[in-house]
Amino acid sequence: MAVKLHVNGQPVTVEAEPGTPLLWVLRDDLALTGTKFGCGVAACGACTVHVNGEAVRSCQTFIEDLEGASVTTIEGLAGPAAKAVQTAWSELDVVQCGYCQSGQIMSVVNLLATNPRPSDADIDAAMSGNACRCATYVRIRAAIHRAAEIMEG
Ligand code: FES
Ligand code: FES
Repeated sequence: MAVKLHVNGQPVTVEAEPGTPLLWVLRDDLALTGTKFGCGVAACGACTVHVNGEAVRSCQTFIEDLEGASVTTIEGLAGPAAKAVQTAWSELDVVQCGYCQSGQIMSVVNLLATNPRPSDADIDAAMSGNACRCATYVRIRAAIHRAAEIMEG
C-alpha cells in the first residue's frame, strides 16, 4: 500500500505492507536512524517519535494508520523546548551510552509542550515509559527541571 504523510516537515510517500511499524519505515526506508529499536512491544520508549504532536511508540504505530499524519523524529526536532532540552542535556552531561536518549528527548519535549513547569511527580508520570539501561534517570529529571528554567528565561 502507498501512504502519504509528512516526516520532519517533508512530504513523503511510503510503499509498505499493512502492519509495517513506523519504526522500520523511518529507519529502513527514510534512513532516519536516530529513532532506536529497543523492545518492539511498546515497553521501553527507545522508538518514541511525535505523530501529530503526540509522543508515540513507533514500534507499535502502523503505517496504515498514518495517512496524512505529521511525524517528527529526533532529526527534525526544533523549537524553544527542543533547544532548551538540548542545552540542559549538555550542561548536565545526561547521556551515558546514548541508546535510549532520542526516545527520552522526544518524550521530554512532548511533556514540556503541555506542561512547561513539571513537578517531579509529573516527570515520573510522563517518563515512566522510557527505560534507560544506564540508569540516567536522576540526571534526566534534573535536566528536565533545568530545561524548564531555560524556557522561562
Ligand atoms: S522499541 Fe518501541 S517501545 Fe521499545
Ligand atoms: S544512556 Fe544508555 S540506555 Fe540510556
